[in-house]
Amino acid sequence: MEKSTGLKKVKTAVFISGKGSNLKNLIKFSKNKKYRFSVNLIFSNTYKAKGLKYSKKYKIEKKIIRYDNKIITDKKILKILKHKKIRLICLAGFMKILSKYFIKKFKGKIINIHPSLLPKYKGLNTHIRAIKNREKFAGCTVHYVTSKLDAGKIILQKKVKISRKDNHFSLAKKVLKKEHLIYPAAINKILN
Ligand code: GRF
Repeated sequence: MEKSTGLKKVKTAVFISGKGSNLKNLIKFSKNKKYRFSVNLIFSNTYKAKGLKYSKKYKIEKKIIRYDNKIITDKKILKILKHKKIRLICLAGFMKILSKYFIKKFKGKIINIHPSLLPKYKGLNTHIRAIKNREKFAGCTVHYVTSKLDAGKIILQKKVKISRKDNHFSLAKKVLKKEHLIYPAAINKILN
């Protein structure tokens, strides 16, 4: 990852498919001068993503492109990213798998937040699985994106204790709070 130099912030795109609480949180942190990135583009594969509302609220450009054909869509996105001089992509609840072509083009500059202590519980329904397996801890991980799902190099992780009273909703809530702490910190870690 190229480091950020001087006071210039690294132009970042956040990719979402849903609620966008991580997006909102990243936008907030990006306004602090200690954080070396700015959110310049919000991308979604669906109009239904609730987080798209932050485009208007924070005056950040948004692009929505449906994934009818992965390669064509990925090429379209790459063109937009180039035009906007985006240097970092943060996946935040983005429910599509990027093509190998895309990942190669943006090699080392795509990161993701995942709601588990990777390498445990890759993929979906992480909290349900962790509870079912009677794990003592759950957590979240920020990692680089490679063509292998949830398997890229880990940047930061945070643990939370699973209590006996937890169900997957309460656990998701607890973990999300930690996600909001480690995502901006992980970005600064790779940029500094
Ligand atoms: C988060 O739990 C994140 O770890 C996962 O999807 C969820 C997105 O939440 N990849 P939000 O849309 O940022 O609120």
